[in-house]
Amino acid sequence: MRVMVTGGLGVNGAWLLRELLARDNEVIVFENRHDTSLIDDVADRVQIVIGDITDAAGLAEAVRQVAPDSIVHLAAFVDCENDPVTAVAVNVGGTTNVLAAAAAAGVRRVVFTSSKAVYAPAIGAHGHPEYRPIGEDDAQVPTGMYGITKAAGEAIVDWYGRTTDVECVSLRFATIFGPGRLQRHSGSINTYSSMIELPAMGQPFALDHGGDEGDGLIYVLDVADAIATVTLAPGVLPHSVYNVADGGVWSMNDFANSIRALIPDAELEVGSGLNPMNQPDPYYMAIDASRMAGDFGWRPQYGLDRAIEHYVGLVRARV
Ligand SMILES: NC(=O)c1ccc[n+]([C@@H]2O[C@H](COP(=O)([O-])OP(=O)(O)OC[C@H]3O[C@@H](n4cnc5c(N)ncnc54)[C@H](O)[C@@H]3O)[C@@H](O)[C@H]2O)c1
Repeated sequence: MRVMVTGGLGVNGAWLLRELLARDNEVIVFENRHDTSLIDDVADRVQIVIGDITDAAGLAEAVRQVAPDSIVHLAAFVDCENDPVTAVAVNVGGTTNVLAAAAAAGVRRVVFTSSKAVYAPAIGAHGHPEYRPIGEDDAQVPTGMYGITKAAGEAIVDWYGRTTDVECVSLRFATIFGPGRLQRHSGSINTYSSMIELPAMGQPFALDHGGDEGDGLIYVLDVADAIATVTLAPGVLPHSVYNVADGGVWSMNDFANSIRALIPDAELEVGSGLNPMNQPDPYYMAIDASRMAGDFGWRPQYGLDRAIEHYVGLVRARV
């Protein structure tokens, strides 16, 4: 199969490319920057088309020329709270351009990468300490600009799925952690990566509060496996929205303890309490991924300990 991946040189894209290649697919990346630092090992096996998803005409021409069977749409803007105008232009406008280009070129399937941020904040039974898992049909009342743009993107994905021949599906990820994130992002999204990468390199890590807060997480290799599973699934997909998560809740203390078990001399301090990322609304939540299991038999391969062991191994190999 020919698969086009927008944003394929990013953190999730790097692992998705490897997964798609391992499953014998042709991979074409559509990216606005030519930085192959996260895919050095497979760069010579993928075609890279440089362009911007906000350029509707350029994107449509690229999709027409590439003529992929499917598109995985990863390209996104994440600093949404600080720049809502760019957020809407890239995440809503750019997503619409991807769908329009797909419809015009006769692409069979588009997979949109959404987020748990489309749900309402996790309060009451969905928050600490119960963390009742959130399913695909639970309330979607996003309060952050990132979640608002993802929810709008999903609504447009759904419209194209209903009104054109393109089969459209949205995947809502739990919080993703994995190698590459430290270089790519700043701010709170870095916390899990910093917590692993700094001790793995012999440097101290300290978080003054939030150790008792749990969250639904998923390792980036499991994300790649889930995206590939949905992208390559034969026939018509049973659903148009899927949660992708480990299913459980890992607290910051669980995370720290798992790192300490692997790196006994780690200088790792995590204070007690809740809300480690100082979120204005709590988006720490357990995500129910049973629909992915039921429709595709998909289950994450990496539990907490195995993911951290794999991650530390990669960091140490790089240092
Ligand atoms: N990381 C998470 O925890 C998480 C959780 C849920 C959903 N997601 C979603 O998964 C997707 C991939 O996330 P990631 O962490 O790999 O992000 P990333 O920032 O590492 O990668 C995104 C890539 O898109 C490219 N890009 C950005 N704007 C572009 C544009 N206008 N035109 C072309 N390319 C552009 C960037 O160059 C980058 O390589 C995103 O849609 C993100 O919203 C991520």
